[in-house]
Amino acid sequence: MIHAGLEGIVAADSKISLVDGENGLLVYRGEWAESIAKHYSFEEATYFLWHGSAPKKTQFDNITSEFGQARHLTAAQKKIIDLLPESMEIMAVIRTILSSMGEEDFQFPATHTQGMRLLGIIPTIIAYRYRSQKGLPIIDPDDKLSHVGNFLYMLKGETPVEQHVKALTAYFILTMEHGLNASTFTARVIASTESDLVSAITGAIGAMKGPLHGGAPTGVIDLLEEIKHDGNSERVLRKKLENREKLMGFGHRIYKTRDPRAAALSEITSNFYDDEEFSLAHEVEDTAVRLLKEYKPDRKLYANVEYYAAAILRAIELPTELFTPTFTAARCAGWIAHVFEQNENNRIIRPSSVYSGEMPEYR
Ligand code: COA
Repeated sequence: MIHAGLEGIVAADSKISLVDGENGLLVYRGEWAESIAKHYSFEEATYFLWHGSAPKKTQFDNITSEFGQARHLTAAQKKIIDLLPESMEIMAVIRTILSSMGEEDFQFPATHTQGMRLLGIIPTIIAYRYRSQKGLPIIDPDDKLSHVGNFLYMLKGETPVEQHVKALTAYFILTMEHGLNASTFTARVIASTESDLVSAITGAIGAMKGPLHGGAPTGVIDLLEEIKHDGNSERVLRKKLENREKLMGFGHRIYKTRDPRAAALSEITSNFYDDEEFSLAHEVEDTAVRLLKEYKPDRKLYANVEYYAAAILRAIELPTELFTPTFTAARCAGWIAHVFEQNENNRIIRPSSVYSGEMPEYR
């Protein structure tokens, strides 16, 4: 029997996360991902995901300083970025810079220090490329800021709004890991050949770059823009449902209950009701869920993670072209956790295929 896309095939025994679509559960190393998102910084969540325990004071100080050191581009890296064609998209730029990182320092097996260097530098690559493409002055990293706060600071060139940092941190934590998705599986396949961490992460970025995986949730942005312009969410949503259009950001192939990531992001951003954009996102969700129950009473249709991802990224005014790179900056933490796990208990990943071509005549 062929399992196209390996659907339903169990290819790893992992202690990193549980994704339970039936029951709408997401667990990171024995803790609810939602709870991690509420109580941890991205630095702490990364440590937790990689090592399975919350960092103690000295470990937290160490990881904070490692993130700080990792976020500086070398002169050579800046030069490489500057030499790349104008038209090269940011995902390809991240892939190229990571790929150019020193072979010697990244020997097999993967280490915490190697992981920090790759994870720490991605936001700087994104901000550097984005600002240089726009002809804006480059903003150097600020080591006093958190990983996520510094990312916003380097992008915008001003001290970030605290609730934007909190919302984006929650987004980073809730998207850092999601089981054996295509990019994570790619990283594990490469790691299973005992190749180095740079190669595994570069391959994962290649998988993430495809529109079926890391595609930007532009449909949701368009919907929110349309509603903002019209001023009446019910009118816009009802018209779409009457026209048998799907509401972007609602429904999920796996989650038949509320996507736990959307639920967590909704709860976290509900604290920011004073922000007009967050408040719009909540109001639209309430109206959409009510109307979906009316129009599709037999279906369980709720907001999915794309809905809140788009709502947050829009509220903090992140340009749509940065959505997939930002998702990558978060998910890289999960890729690295999986490479560590693959290295610890390795067996080369080698599925089979069924030959359906012609046979030569038997001799
Ligand atoms: N708005 C309105 N109706 C929806 C809907 C939505 N967002 N999502 C599903 N439905 C309805 C379909 O019209 C269909 O109804 P019908 O059988 O009466 O015609 C039924 O629910 C099943 O739809 P289907 O597309 O087969 O469900 P699925 O579970 O296979 O698909 C998605 C899941 C995500 C593809 C689907 O919900 C969707 O297209 N959502 C909008 C796009 C989106 O948000 N994508 C990001 C996903 S993370």
